Order: sequence, then structure tokens, then C-alpha cells
Amino acid sequence: MEGTHPNPVLAPLRQVGQQHGLTPLSSRLHEIEAWLGDDLRALDGAIGELVESLSQPDPRGQERRAAGHLLRVPGKRIRPLCVLLGARLGNRGLDGITRDLAVASELIHAATLLHDDVLDQGEVRRGAPTARVEFGNPVSILAGDHLLVQALQRIARCGHLTLLQDVLEVIDEMVRAEALQLARRNLIPEDLSVARKTYLEVVHGKTASLFRWSLEAGATCAGLDSTTIATLGRVGLHIGTAFQVVDDLLDVRGQPQLTGKPVWVDLHEGKLTWPLLTTLERRPSLHRELLDHPGLLVQAQARLRREVLACRADESTAAFAFELAATAHRELHTLPAGKARDALTALIDTIVSRVR
Ligand code: IPE
Ligand code: IPE
Ligand code: MG
Ligand code: MG
Repeated sequence: MEGTHPNPVLAPLRQVGQQHGLTPLSSRLHEIEAWLGDDLRALDGAIGELVESLSQPDPRGQERRAAGHLLRVPGKRIRPLCVLLGARLGNRGLDGITRDLAVASELIHAATLLHDDVLDQGEVRRGAPTARVEFGNPVSILAGDHLLVQALQRIARCGHLTLLQDVLEVIDEMVRAEALQLARRNLIPEDLSVARKTYLEVVHGKTASLFRWSLEAGATCAGLDSTTIATLGRVGLHIGTAFQVVDDLLDVRGQPQLTGKPVWVDLHEGKLTWPLLTTLERRPSLHRELLDHPGLLVQAQARLRREVLACRADESTAAFAFELAATAHRELHTLPAGKARDALTALIDTIVSRVR
């Protein structure tokens, strides 16, 4: 049976390798798929049960159906994979606790997507209309709240109080990062080195913090020591940052049929992404013009797109993601060798070469 049905969690990642002709990476992911097959099927089953319960007809439960609408189409499920691999590093396999923590990480992520699509006025996600398009902004926000509660309940019942405290901090960081990003929207920064710091602050909060928690949660429930947990936390921070940098890159040169979302949305939303920052740095006259006429950010979209590509900001964004991955690899390789470390190594490589 194994291998005849592509695993819903790893298959999207494996395709990345295949599409890039990265056969070794693709076969490494195939190995992880075989090794973690049962865990990943259990994860899929647990999320499937939740989707089923959310989809029950209930005229008063619009927020539940909106949450089900997003969850029905599986994403890449990288965060739960981080939980499972963190646990495997401590030789803990799948059980009720690791499954609950893995599901919780995916539900927190899904909740932030429901909220993020309201903030970003997102129209398409995972190749389908967003929950806010189908159900409206207010219901999409409530759907996100519902999933957050579902996630926190699962974490609370695991009995590791520190994980609950840590995840509350992560959620707080995410909220502050999205608020900071919102406050800076449509503003052209005068000082680009300050802007890069702000960018990293936003990305650490909105994306990397959950990757960090996911790896730490797996390692904590496996009883790993505090030094190892701290190392994994740093790995999570670097791969989460790389993940968002690649997301910025896919906004510039992704293929919507693979990513499930349109391109150039960030520029349209006036978001300060790594490709835009790089373009402003490489085109000082354009930077000056935008500072003098901020309205151009909205009005001159076609020209800005051309400038981003002409100055090769996409290539330098990809290079930055690879630098972050290299730092993550160095941290990871201070930990004992083994299957779990190999799998995390393959995951890092996949994250930076991903096309979806
Ligand atoms: C999208 O995350 C939001 C970001 C943090 C960039 P994913 O790319 O993991 O979304 P899904 O779950 O696969 O749809
Ligand atoms: C990531 O940022 C948002 C979250 C962490 C929820 P983006 O706004 O770039 O994510 P996408 O591109 O909409 O998936
Ligand atoms: Mg968004
Ligand atoms: Mg994005």
C-alpha cells in the first residue's frame, strides 16, 4: 500500500524537487515519506475529522463552515512536520500528544491565514476563493478565532504548561508583527537599512515564530534537553524566515497554478517585501522618486514590476533565502546525526527551492 497513494503532507514538497530536477532531494523526501508514513496519515486523519465536524450543516455555525472551507484543501503542512521531526529527534514517535501538538500548529497557521486574508484582502488561497470571499470578512475573522481556540485546547490538554505559555507569546508576536506591517503599508522608507530591520522584525513575528515553536514543541514533548531545544528554536527561526523570504519571491515569480495564489499581490498591497527593498536599494533614483511622489507606489505598478525584475531583485531574494538556509544547516549540524536530522536537512533544502 505504502507509496501507492501520495502522502498529502509530503507529496507537495516532493513535487518541488521533481519539478526542479532535484532528484536527490526528491528521493530524500520519498524516504521521509516512507519513514513517517503512519504519522503523516494520522495527522491527515485528525485534520480530516475536524474538517468533517466543521462541515456539519448548522445554520448558526457559519464561522465553522468558513474554517472548514480553508482546511478542506490541504496546504503543505510544514509546521506539523516540524513538530513531528522535533519529536523524532528525541526518539518520540506519534502518539496522542505529538499528534495534538502537530495538529495545533497547523490550526494556528490556518487561523492566521483566515485573518491575514482579511488584512491583505486576499481573494484566492490554495487555488480556491478565500473564506472571506465566500463568507465575508467578519465570518472569516470569527473562523480564525474558532481555529485558534481549537488549537489552544489541544495544546492545553498535552499537559506541558510551558508550551501553552510559549504559544501564547507566539500568537502575541504574530499579532504585533501583522499590526506593524499594516502600519508601514504604502509608506516608502527613507532609510533602507532601518527598513530591512523592520522587515525582519515583521517576518520573525508573523511567520518564523510559529516554525520556532513547532520544532521546540516536538522536542519538548520528547524530553530533549534545554540546549537542544534552544538550538532547534534557532533552526526554526532561520527556516521560518527563509520560508517567508521565498513566499515574497513567489509573489514576484511564482506560478499561480502551483502556489494557489496570484502574483504581485504584495506590491499591489504596498507591502515592504525583500524584493521591493532590494529594488529600492539598487535603483536610488526610483527610490527618490517614490519618496517625492508616494502615490506612484499604487499608480506605477507595471513600471515597478519591470524594475524589480530588471535589477534582478528576485535573484538576490533567492540568494538571501539560501543564506538563511545555510545558517539553519550549520545550527542543525551541531545536533547528533540520525534519521530525524537528515529529514530536517531535506526539509530546509525543500523550503528554499520550493515552487509552491
Ligand atoms: C503561507 O504559508 C503563509 C506564509 C507564512 C508565507 P504556507 O505557504 O505554508 O501555506 P499553505 O498552508 O501551504 O497553504
Ligand atoms: C504571511 O504573510 C502571513 C501569515 C503569517 C499569516 P503573507 O501575507 O505574505 O502570506 P500570503 O502570501 O498571504 O500567504
Ligand atoms: Mg497575505
Ligand atoms: Mg505572501
